[in-house]
Amino acid sequence: MQTAYTKEELRSLLAPVRGKRIVLVPTMGALHEGHATLLRQARVLAGEDGVVVASVFLNPVQFDNAGDLATYPKSPAQDSETCDSCGVDVVFMPTPDVMYCADRSITLEETHLSSVLCGASRPGHFAGVCLVVNKLFNLVQPTDAIFGKKDYQQFAILRRMVRDLDMPITLHGAEIVREADGLALSSRNVRLTPEHRAAAPAIRRSLLAAAEAYSAGKDVQIVCAQVRGALESIPGVRCDYVELVDAETLHDLTDPDRLALLAVAAWFGDVRLIDNIELFRA
Ligand code: PAF
Repeated sequence: MQTAYTKEELRSLLAPVRGKRIVLVPTMGALHEGHATLLRQARVLAGEDGVVVASVFLNPVQFDNAGDLATYPKSPAQDSETCDSCGVDVVFMPTPDVMYCADRSITLEETHLSSVLCGASRPGHFAGVCLVVNKLFNLVQPTDAIFGKKDYQQFAILRRMVRDLDMPITLHGAEIVREADGLALSSRNVRLTPEHRAAAPAIRRSLLAAAEAYSAGKDVQIVCAQVRGALESIPGVRCDYVELVDAETLHDLTDPDRLALLAVAAWFGDVRLIDNIELFRA
């Protein structure tokens, strides 16, 4: 595996492989088994002849909360080992100064899918994600890129970006990887208190119970209230949102025959966890 710290190093490492299949996995580091799964999927997709590129960059522009950025876990040496062991060919590890010009003045805002769910409570977050992913796409020029579906809204917005800006890149959504007790893997899980870590699998349990209620024909509002009630009965837990929406538009589900998404964001103390489940009416 080779490591690029600058854009020039990245360009020169990728120059000889232009024309091959290049699969990019963008990450913010603090890699866990969920990321490792994406990296291994990238290796399979690229095949022996293709190239897997991972980026490890804690993107300050997508953080709407300075405290969250400051406490975000970092483990660059371990991240490098994980990339290597998962078959990554090139890892790009820039600093913010390498990535951004001090007087940068271009923004990239998706205006429909970003207005709801996490976008409603994290102003500027998805504009920061679109900006950095766009830059990574320009630098790496991948044929494919893989994103986890735990960040379902992010994936939907990036698909929209690729579609609306005619980017010649195929995006792949990877299923959520979970702990044995059902908690979705997240770099933020390490910041949970032992009590909240023990209670956090309630998110998955409440989503599964809601899925059953929804497929049995229960009203959408009742289904969401059930999830909120189950989570907010845990001391120190507050839901940011619990919403059942159209899985593609992320807005109100007007046609119950379409795929729905039940998405939740909840504060466990000062750690914000998200999870979701796709739903069909039976
Ligand atoms: O999902 C993430 O880890 C980040 O939002 C991404 C896509 C790497 C952009 O910084």
